[in-house]
This record gives sequence, structure tokens and C-alpha cells, in this order.
Amino acid sequence: MLILEKLIIDGGTRLCGEVKLQGAKNSVLPILAASILCDDECYIDNCPRLSDCNVSMRIIRHLGKSAYRDGGSVIIGNEEITKNDIPEDMMREMRSSITFLGAIIAKMGEAKISLPGGCELGPRPIDIHISALRQMGVDISENHGLIECKVRDKLRGAVIALPYPSVGATENIILAAVLAKGTTIISNAAKEPEIVDLTIFLRSCGAKIIGAGESTVIICGVESLSGAYHKVIPDRIEAISYMSAIAITGGTGELIGVVPEHIMAVIPIFEESGCKLQSTDSGLSITAPERLGAVKYIRTMPYPAFPTDAQAIIMALMAQSMGTSVFVETVFSGRYKHIAELQRMGANIKAEDRVAVVSGVERLSGASVSATDLRGGAALVIAALGADGRSEISNIHYIDRGYENIEGKLKKLGACIARVNLT
Ligand code: EPZ
Repeated sequence: MLILEKLIIDGGTRLCGEVKLQGAKNSVLPILAASILCDDECYIDNCPRLSDCNVSMRIIRHLGKSAYRDGGSVIIGNEEITKNDIPEDMMREMRSSITFLGAIIAKMGEAKISLPGGCELGPRPIDIHISALRQMGVDISENHGLIECKVRDKLRGAVIALPYPSVGATENIILAAVLAKGTTIISNAAKEPEIVDLTIFLRSCGAKIIGAGESTVIICGVESLSGAYHKVIPDRIEAISYMSAIAITGGTGELIGVVPEHIMAVIPIFEESGCKLQSTDSGLSITAPERLGAVKYIRTMPYPAFPTDAQAIIMALMAQSMGTSVFVETVFSGRYKHIAELQRMGANIKAEDRVAVVSGVERLSGASVSATDLRGGAALVIAALGADGRSEISNIHYIDRGYENIEGKLKKLGACIARVNLT
């Protein structure tokens, strides 16, 4: 049941202090999906408390394995999965549910799912996933929103050239290929750090994978996988979000646990806007000027280029900067829904198709706004922290999908923020 809540933020407080990063949402979700391939217990450490993780655990339990939380870790049992379907309500709750497909087929030889849900960022087809699985010997029929998959005899390795370095498709192929007969070669694979983290987990379970993090990934199928202990990498998008919260208030702080290499495309953006960044023993420190300068041009692209997941977050920053910034969103065609909400806060943004021109204003003003998706919601929180006066942000269930205890972490930095239950 959806609990109606909102965030109340009084802007203008200069944020200072430390933020300890959560485990990466976009790494733990495919790792939880991968755990159904394992014959022994899996111990996933640094697993963030997110609604998406809860959905993954419900899917795992539905499939027949035990899954429970022990503090910051999730433990997946050594039971064999007994089912090959995922109920529609669970599929609709998040896009990442699709990543279970390859693993279910690998284990059960067949699967029945509906199309995945998740943030509406424009059309999000799964054609690349489907075409790759077909190349691995899976018969797939799609009727009335239901996808039925059946392996002719055994999943077999294949040479798969991706038309686009899709994160989800790369993960799905890897999960199907680790137990397939023969070798799979993925070219033009996604190179995100979360893909590397997934393969580190699988290799510790006995999988044979080389090239993760590069364009060509090679997987030699094995008979079975054991279990493993794995600590999930820090969340690079959460890091960028808190750096932005600190920067828009002219604050100073330290991101504990961040891996600077993972945000290499974003560090120059903060520096160009006038922030001072420094590596520290435990992460990265950021000190912001009283007023940020505009960053001229930001183009989202697959990793290691500027991440689409940081687009809305950095746009909120630029909305209160000195000068004009141009954004080009190349990954998703409908990822500008936050603009209308930022305009309610006095932002001066013009958007057409995939291009948005942001003319920074002296100061945003607090307003009643509504989150439209996960990162769009985070952008509103950042804008509200920099704005003059009070903001009320509704639809925050989107934010809870990707940020653990956002109000607690911001309060620790000195923010005036509260979560209000409306039910
Ligand atoms: C992952 O989504 C992330 N989600 C997204 O983060 C992120 O925005 C995205 O990668 C890009 O970096 C998770 O890891 C759980 P894609 P995914 O497949 O796998 C098109 C967040 O905010 N495409 O790389 O769905 C697709 O429509 C979320 O944390 C096809 O056309 O992304 C999109 O335009 C939001 N056909 C582009 O590729 C396909 O079969 C990138 O999609 C698959 C994808």
C-alpha cells in the first residue's frame, strides 16, 4: 500500500558535514536478481534500504528462495527456485524486474513475465533484451503484454553485438550466459561500474567472465554457481546528489566512500561551476562558492560519459547559477518532466525535444511541487534546499526508490527538512 507522504523543506541553510554513501541501487538490483542462479547462500552487504530492494526480495521469495534483511545486509537462501513467472504487480513496480528474465530462463528453461514498469522516462522497450535471448536459443512470444520464453534444448552461448550499450540488456545477457552451454561474447556492451560490480559477485560464485567494464565482455558458461559474500559498491548517483545539495547552498562537505573514478565525467562540472574538490582518505570533499557559475554544455551519454541519472540533479543546480547552460539528453527521450516543477520554483528553463536551455536565476523560490520520477524528485529536493522560503514536495515514493533516509542524511548536514505523513 502506497503511504502518502511529503517533504517540507525551508531553503537557504548552508549545508556542512559528512555524508556516508549507501550501496549502489543500480548495482544491488542486478546482484539480487543474480542470486537466484546460486546453489548456496548469498550474503549481500551494504544493501541500501530502498523500496526497489524490497520489490526484488519479494520477487526472489515468490520464485521460491528465502530472502531476509540482517541490518545492512540481505541474505538469500540456498533453496532451488521452483517458479518461472513474476506476478504483474511486482513487474510493474520497477524496471529492474526485467533483469530476472535471463536468470529465470537459465535456471528453469522457461519464463513468463509481463512488461516491466518503473520511472516513465519516455519509451523503454526491451527489444535488445529479447533479440539477444533469441540468439541464445530462446523461443519468445509476446501476446497482450505477456512475454513467454522457452529454451529449445539448452541455453547456448552466442556472439551478440548490441545496437546500443544498454545497461539492462548487458546484465540480462550476462545472467543468462553464466550457466549457458559454450561461450557468449557481447560487443558494444554497457561499461557502467555497476556491471563490473555484478560480474565481481558472479565470479566469486564461480562464474567465468572477462572484460566487464569494457565494450567486449566474454562469458564462458559453467555447470553451476555456488554462493558468496559480496559488498556492494557505493552509489555514485547518490554521491552526485549530495554534492549538488551542498553546492547549491554554498556549503562544504565530505562524501564518505565515494569512488572518484566512478564520477569522473561529473567532477569537471562541479569545478567549472566554481566548486573546489579534493580527494580525502575516506572519499571526496567539496567546497562551494557563494554563487555557482553556469556550466555551458552538458550532454548525457552512456558511461563513462555524463550520466543521464545526474541530468535533472545538475539542472536544478544550474537553475540557480550565474549564466546559461545547455543540456542535451541523448539516453532517454522523455526525461525532462522535472522542468515544469522547477519552473514552479521560478526556474527559467526552455526545452524542446532533447535540448533544454537553463538561464540561471538569482534565487529560486520555495513552492508546492511534485516528484515525477526518482531523479526528478531528487532535483526538486536540491532546488528546495537552495530556494528562498518553504517548499512542499509530494509523490516522494519516487525518491524512496533510490535514496535511503534522504531527510535524515540532509538533516545531519544542517538542512531544515521534515517528512510529513499525509494518511
Ligand atoms: C539503467 O536502466 C538504470 N537503471 C537507469 O537508472 C539508467 O538511467 C540507465 O541504465 C542508463 O544509464 C538500473 O540500473 C536499474 P538502458 P536501463 O537499457 O537498464 C533504450 C535511475 O534513475 N533501450 O541502458 O533501463 C532505452 O529505451 C535509473 O537510477 C532500448 O531501446 O537502461 C533507453 O533509451 C533510471 N531497447 C536506452 O536504451 C532495449 O531493449 C538506455 O537504456 C533496452 C534499452
